[in-house]
Amino acid sequence: MRSTKFFLAKNKVSNSTNSLRTVSVIGTGAYLPERVVTNDDLAKVVDTSDEWIYSRTGMRERRIAREDQATSDLATKAAMTALADAGISADEVDLLIVATLSPDMPFPSTACFVQDQIGAKNAYCYDLGAACSGSLYALETAKNQIACGAVETALIIGAEKMSSVIDWTDRNTCVLFGDGAGAMVLRATGAKRGVMKGAFGSDGSLANLLWTPGGGSRNPLTAENIDQKSQYLKMEGRDVYKHAVKQMTQSTLDALEKNGLTADDIKLFVAHQANARIIDAIAARLDVQDRMFKNVEKYANTSAAALLIAVDEVAKSGNIIPGDLLLLVAFGGGFTWGANIVEWTKS
Ligand code: UT7
Repeated sequence: MRSTKFFLAKNKVSNSTNSLRTVSVIGTGAYLPERVVTNDDLAKVVDTSDEWIYSRTGMRERRIAREDQATSDLATKAAMTALADAGISADEVDLLIVATLSPDMPFPSTACFVQDQIGAKNAYCYDLGAACSGSLYALETAKNQIACGAVETALIIGAEKMSSVIDWTDRNTCVLFGDGAGAMVLRATGAKRGVMKGAFGSDGSLANLLWTPGGGSRNPLTAENIDQKSQYLKMEGRDVYKHAVKQMTQSTLDALEKNGLTADDIKLFVAHQANARIIDAIAARLDVQDRMFKNVEKYANTSAAALLIAVDEVAKSGNIIPGDLLLLVAFGGGFTWGANIVEWTKS
């Protein structure tokens, strides 16, 4: 009896694997707050300079949200643009994921606030925590749910109000980040390849190299913790830099191998926009300098939002056409990292 059950269960799994659907990007969007803060502006607040910031990071300016804007407000604007780009209405969304490390509040999820603001009343919603890798993890999660038939249409958003979680007196971190949101709509379209097999990894033993130690159950917000500024992001920059280059290079190679491709097959590489030197180092290791996208100069590091903001910029630039392959790669706190390849299908 037991062996028959096992046989049936095995058969079921194998059938569903055979019927996996390919998943395509049908719309993209982004929102960057209007206020531009330059390196010179920052030099009036902390002991830094345009020369130091630009030579170390390739950043010239970043966008900073208004005080009355929460992460969900940025996310909502990006989401509306993506839905319009996809030509669908919010009530067609079945799954809504917001990747963020700067949620509106501990709970409910920022995704639920976005659902309410955009009117995605048929969606189920949650936040995803993978720091700067969050939107790539959201892409993988949404892809798999559509591929197996659990949902039809997914809206993924990477959104951050980093200005609310950084210490504006710490020059080691405050110059590096910006606010913004990017969004993507996904659906099964019968494309040949769509969002392909990804390569992902994490290493929790290195969590303390990039984290916000306060504000959770380990170090609740007490007057003493607030005095120690534990509610703000802390980073060991050099260690993060080394791991980011290593893991983003390796996951790129792993994703290419998993899909039977080489770097020559990729039209454009889009990496997490953490630092121009990190992106250049990856490009040099892969020898793809001519096909590596960068916009970190304009927006700095917008954490989970960066990758989807970048994809939206690429999509709207007209530099990619249906059939082109984009390789997306990210790295963030956790540590978390990954890469995925997307066959562009939208004209
Ligand atoms: O999404 C992932 C999140 N984070 C990242 O990807 C960041 C990864 N790391 C980096 O991008 C780089 O390590 C940084 C940009 C953070 C730093 O660049 P670096 O070349 O590694 O600089 P450094 O750590 O060697 O710092 C050199 C000096 C230090 O002074 P001393 O101790 O040598 O006298 C810092 O105090 O630069 C000083 N410094 C600054 N000086 C002017 C640090 N921040 C600043 C600043 N302005 N904003």
